[in-house]
Amino acid sequence: MDLKTQLTSDKSVTDYILSQENKDQLRFLTCGSVDDGKSTLIGRLLFDTKLIFEDQLAALEKDSVKHGTVGEDIDLALLVDGLEAEREQGITIDVAYRFFATDKRKFVVADTPGHEQYTRNMATGASTADLAVLLVDARAGLMPQTRRHAYIASLLGIRHVVLAVNKIDLVEFSQKRFNEISEAFNEFAADFGFTTQIAIPMSARYGDNVTIKSESMPWYGGKTLLDHLETVEVAGTDLEGPFRFPVQWVNRPNLDFRGFSGTVAGGSVSVGDPIVVPTSGQTSTVKRIITPHGDADAAGAGEAITLQLNDEIDISRGDLLSGDNDRPDVADQMAAHLIWMSEEALMPGRRYLLKIGGATVSASITDIKYQVDINSFEHLAAKKLDLNEIAVCNFSLAKPLSFDPYKDNRHTGSFILIDRLSNATVAAGMIAFPLRRATNIHWQALEVDKNARAEAKQQKPAVLWFTGLSGSGKSTVATLLEKKLHDLGNHTYVLDGDNVRHGLNRDLGFSDEDRVENIRRVSEVSKLMTDAGLITLVSFISPFRSERRMARDAMGDGEFVEIFVDTPIDDCRKRDPKGLYAKADRGEIKNFTGIDSPYEAPEEAEIHLKTVGRSAEELVEEIFAYLASNGYIRG
Ligand code: ADX
Repeated sequence: MDLKTQLTSDKSVTDYILSQENKDQLRFLTCGSVDDGKSTLIGRLLFDTKLIFEDQLAALEKDSVKHGTVGEDIDLALLVDGLEAEREQGITIDVAYRFFATDKRKFVVADTPGHEQYTRNMATGASTADLAVLLVDARAGLMPQTRRHAYIASLLGIRHVVLAVNKIDLVEFSQKRFNEISEAFNEFAADFGFTTQIAIPMSARYGDNVTIKSESMPWYGGKTLLDHLETVEVAGTDLEGPFRFPVQWVNRPNLDFRGFSGTVAGGSVSVGDPIVVPTSGQTSTVKRIITPHGDADAAGAGEAITLQLNDEIDISRGDLLSGDNDRPDVADQMAAHLIWMSEEALMPGRRYLLKIGGATVSASITDIKYQVDINSFEHLAAKKLDLNEIAVCNFSLAKPLSFDPYKDNRHTGSFILIDRLSNATVAAGMIAFPLRRATNIHWQALEVDKNARAEAKQQKPAVLWFTGLSGSGKSTVATLLEKKLHDLGNHTYVLDGDNVRHGLNRDLGFSDEDRVENIRRVSEVSKLMTDAGLITLVSFISPFRSERRMARDAMGDGEFVEIFVDTPIDDCRKRDPKGLYAKADRGEIKNFTGIDSPYEAPEEAEIHLKTVGRSAEELVEEIFAYLASNGYIRG
């Protein structure tokens, strides 16, 4: 059942949603461990406000909600869309969104589990929240995790925090204890730049100061939690900022109409306003603004609209539109905070898909500037990032994109990274600033080009990429093949793992991240050699599919010939030409491929060489036949 059917078949929900439509909304997040009484607090809020539609909402969450199917109901979609994006990307995030309302406001609570490894869950909940409730147990006071929660909240742009000093009944409703904790909190929260921060003594269990003022704490003159949530002024800067409109789809029902649909991500727009596509510089003006309720003269942040323009300019899904002034940054390099969310570590140099609004580009991390120790906030040097780690990184994008710093706009300043092979979301990013450094390095146009060089050599330049386990025979076959090609007048060069590791890659070892960098460099070098018109034989274990794909993608059509030298590990171990398997088995070499470091076999290699029972000469013949019949070589 889709959401619309569900809604119309349940009148009470429909009525409820409609009655809520015009109310102001607060999205908040609760952070704390189970022991701090988080579930009790949420339960108490829901119970006391008596407006629980959890069953219906839980059912709605299960349906897959697509943008645009919801008609006028925006709120329910909002409730689930945070989850939807991640679901589509195949990440499981334990965030439960709950929904309740009072006469003054409606609320969306993101509830994240309290266990240690939960940075990514919390980040998901925090990315759309206005306020964070940090829970502490009055007996224990501020904990290291309270700092962690405050840090992530502030990193994700939350500007309002409440310290819920819970279980105050267990310290005899002590004013002294509360003051100690709230003073410590004020001091520590000063680091995070929150706009509002208050501490409230409460007992979620008995309801003191949650929604009803406690009679046991006459000394407390402040607000109850609910009172604060109902009245705290969080009016986003979204509306005040410059106009931003990420195009979610181009709406073209017939030849006479072309509109751009999406949700306004910042500022506002009126009919007649100038509009720019910052990446191309093309301009037009707004002809019509169409909302779910009909035409409008103006629309602001948070509204779903379709824009019609006065000129036919080139705009497609993923483009970010802005006004003429105050344009977003346009750059192909940037620095950003990254929260790594995958079990598989981040590798600088590896390509990921970066999705920002509706735009997706290929991107790589050129540098981890520093990792942030989430407990001490110290900056640490890092070569890779593991699950739940946070760092500031430089990114290089395959083409320029428009975006804003995250502090200016949480929608146009945030992105996710997607693994190109598994299609899973592996990180969330918050843009710090664009890097313009590289924009003045232009390609030098050269007089003599690749074709001219290849022509002179009478061959089709290519990379013959040999991959396989250590001892599989890559180098033996490559060396013999080169000899044969050379003898027939071809221009060749061999790049061999062992040799290159003595020079260019002398600084690299065998950790996963070093291997990624090893292959990245070799792929760049072999690209230059191909450009020089050579047939380059690359003989590296190159154990990861992702980097072999990167090397392939860097080359032109037909220029990358992957050769899987397929020798079972037991045979490699028997041959053991360098005695390395014996050493690895004795534990003298760490991270040895096939033993304690993975080898990902190619799935679609151009040539699959099964070596067992065949001589090196036979194997060379097999490759040679392929090269000859595909027009690469003389001979
Ligand atoms: S790769 O994985 O980064 O592509 P590369 O082909 O450059 O590896 O280097 C592999 C060669 O280094 C092997 O043939 C072997 O001689 C040597 N070597 C030393 N230590 C290791 C190790 N831990 N794992 C694999 N090869 C190793």
